[in-house]
Amino acid sequence: MSGEVLVRLNINGEDHTLALKPNTTLLAALRRQLGLTGTKKGCGTGDCGACTVQVDGQPVNSCLLLAVAAEGKRITTIEGLSHDGELHALQQSFVKHGAIQCGYCTSGAVMASKALIDRNAAPSHDEIKEALAGNLCRCATYPRIVGAVKRAAQIMKESNHG
Ligand code: FES
Ligand code: FES
Repeated sequence: MSGEVLVRLNINGEDHTLALKPNTTLLAALRRQLGLTGTKKGCGTGDCGACTVQVDGQPVNSCLLLAVAAEGKRITTIEGLSHDGELHALQQSFVKHGAIQCGYCTSGAVMASKALIDRNAAPSHDEIKEALAGNLCRCATYPRIVGAVKRAAQIMKESNHG
């Protein structure tokens, strides 16, 4: 279609070439073009964190990033965390510790937590709260989310040294 550009995105380790309008956000490309609907749209204005993905390891609000600006970067979405049908330790911990009610914020919170643990294998309570400050949960599961992240970090650390 006229006005579209070809954008090459590396998502969860796979390259995809998409024809997109230049103003398409990464969030829209993920959800509408690729069907990766685990990444949620909440506010669309960078305020809720529901759309958090990792871009080159950093947590990013995908509603604020144009897809063209993500070209050449390594993008990880919630769909990229499980392997061979097994949920990531963070996902397992969210389930185990009841850190999910409606679940709308969950993928964003998991991705922000993943970015934290990737750079800090043993985050403190306050460090977890700070890392998740941009991830709003209308169901107010914050204490459980913090507990789930802390426990997942411990399990991951133990398994890395086990
Ligand atoms: S949908 Fe992106 S921050 Fe709310
Ligand atoms: S579990 Fe419902 S918004 Fe967080």
